[in-house]
Amino acid sequence: MTGSVTTIEVRAAAPYTVRIGPGAWTQVSALAAGARRVAVIHPEPLEGRASALRQALTEAGYETHTIAVPDAEQAKAVEVAAFCWSVLGRAGFTRSDVVVGLGGGATTDLAGFVAATWLRGVRLVQVPTSLLGMVDAAVGGKTGINTAEGKNLVGCFHEPVGVVCDLDALGSLPRAELVGGLAEVVKCGFIADPVILDLVEADPQAAVTPGSDVLRELVTRSIAVKARVVSADLRETGAGGGVGRELLNYGHTFGHAVELVERYQFRHGAAVAIGMRYVAELAHLAGRLDRDLADRHRRVLELVGLPTTYVPGRWDELLTGMRVDKKTRGGDLRFVVLEGLARPGVLTAPDPALLTAAYAEIVR
Ligand code: GLY
Repeated sequence: MTGSVTTIEVRAAAPYTVRIGPGAWTQVSALAAGARRVAVIHPEPLEGRASALRQALTEAGYETHTIAVPDAEQAKAVEVAAFCWSVLGRAGFTRSDVVVGLGGGATTDLAGFVAATWLRGVRLVQVPTSLLGMVDAAVGGKTGINTAEGKNLVGCFHEPVGVVCDLDALGSLPRAELVGGLAEVVKCGFIADPVILDLVEADPQAAVTPGSDVLRELVTRSIAVKARVVSADLRETGAGGGVGRELLNYGHTFGHAVELVERYQFRHGAAVAIGMRYVAELAHLAGRLDRDLADRHRRVLELVGLPTTYVPGRWDELLTGMRVDKKTRGGDLRFVVLEGLARPGVLTAPDPALLTAAYAEIVR
């Protein structure tokens, strides 16, 4: 069923809109206007949803191909991209044709990379089906695949022509995945839109209930934050002053290190939640953040069932992991920190004693 659809604009070189609402997937067809062929890249478990989209696109007059790829991170491999290129080649995809990424963040990252590289770039429509994909991965034009050496090491920026967030898709997400996505929502609350935190605190149950007005507002507000931040710093160069797009990595320096230490067998959102708690403690110890706001991190994250503690005895590995983080410059660790609600700054090369003291604060 199609309900009301909210639109948010991202101001890229070619501006595009993010459409949010139940049943919004019916808008994919209009975004492909002018194409003769459309390829829908989707993970194997979303076969049914991909077939429905294929039928709708075929009825709208497009020659439609579905390309099934492995689920989750397994999709982000050069062999999978090569498989997609070969399907596009055999189908005769031209510059005016369209690639659709239908799935979670891993699928939209892969689809973006395939669209960016086929014929040096064809139009891309992103249709994220996970909360994480809607509020983060599918918006902003980052694409990427993994290599044996690490995650997202190969990729480029390639803005979509539109992003369609069909809120009905959240109804079939496993609860742990929905909760994981809320870490990025809560992040948007701390870095830019405190109303998000008020909404979660007022009704944490509704925040994790698909179809609730609260979840819809949380998704819409988070996408608005992301759209604002990327519009001001499309290529993460920091141009325009302030923290720039790096702001979106709040909690990710420690979070990425947790994922690395856990050999990527740890949910991204859970790692980011622990990372936000860590960086709040670090900012407090560094005299940048008051105790109440540091404590609010733990409270809000725990209200929706996200972890805020980590195991002891992993400090050396975590530090090594943080040093290979993409934000590290010239060997100096950099953390996006808060100096107040929605008042971000950067903490560079903090005293090693503070780093270990913050770890001690979050050890279970
Ligand atoms: N996921 C962070 C960004 O898009 O910049």
